[in-house]
Amino acid sequence: MKKMTLLLISLCMVAFLAACGTAEKEEASTTGSTNSEQKVLKMATSADYPPFEYIDTAKGSDIIGFDIDLVNALAEKTGYTVKVQDMDFNSLIPALQAKQIDLVLAGMTPTPERAENVDFTSIYYTANHMIVSLKDNEVKSVEDLDGKTIGVQLGSIQEEKAAELAKEVELKVENRNKISELVQEMKAGRIDAAIIEDTVANGYFEKDESLAGFTLETAEEEAGSAIAFQKDSEYTKEFDEALKEMKENGELDELIVKWFGGEQ
Ligand code: ARG
Repeated sequence: MKKMTLLLISLCMVAFLAACGTAEKEEASTTGSTNSEQKVLKMATSADYPPFEYIDTAKGSDIIGFDIDLVNALAEKTGYTVKVQDMDFNSLIPALQAKQIDLVLAGMTPTPERAENVDFTSIYYTANHMIVSLKDNEVKSVEDLDGKTIGVQLGSIQEEKAAELAKEVELKVENRNKISELVQEMKAGRIDAAIIEDTVANGYFEKDESLAGFTLETAEEEAGSAIAFQKDSEYTKEFDEALKEMKENGELDELIVKWFGGEQ
């Protein structure tokens, strides 16, 4: 008798659980866009690059910025959820190649060398190289760099630009992982100047009166930003199309105004 009751109870439980299971499944499929159904893409960035990506420590520990708003808008259009993680700029392409992450938005320029190893969308923003120095020891021209030490972010196209400049003038190149370190090194007198993109440099000028800079002539394809995916990724085309839509309907311009004050 006892055995019968136990059997009955367990049968009831099985039936109950099975019912729960289907109920849950149905709910998810009728509302196709619930979070549980959305595919989560792993995005990495180098959050040392305001206003593209940075952590505003006064406000919290989240990574915020233009690239984050952009990826969220694109994810909404393509039906994905994006999870953002931080790493050194230099590790971003290797992480894509090792398939540890799905995409990178990091103000990254789609150079032909990088494009051999990863996929890129079209360019969503164009910047220029700037030579940044301390006002007290201001570098006003490329010629002024003669005999000086210049800092660049490791693995960035500014590193290549510095190598190019080194053919014109006698200069030493130092690299660091983060843009903020370049500014610190300048203040500590260990480097004389740094090559930083104008959008990012302008942010530093606003906060720090001791810095000055001038723009180097930069070809458009030389310092634009694009989204990188794994080579032959299934997502590149979808995101590229969503990006095109945002360019055409003015949404991209809105984000540019929000984060860069409207200068393109
Ligand atoms: N546009 C440059 C490059 O692709 C610099 C980008 C640096 N980005 C960053 N999040 N620190 O090399």
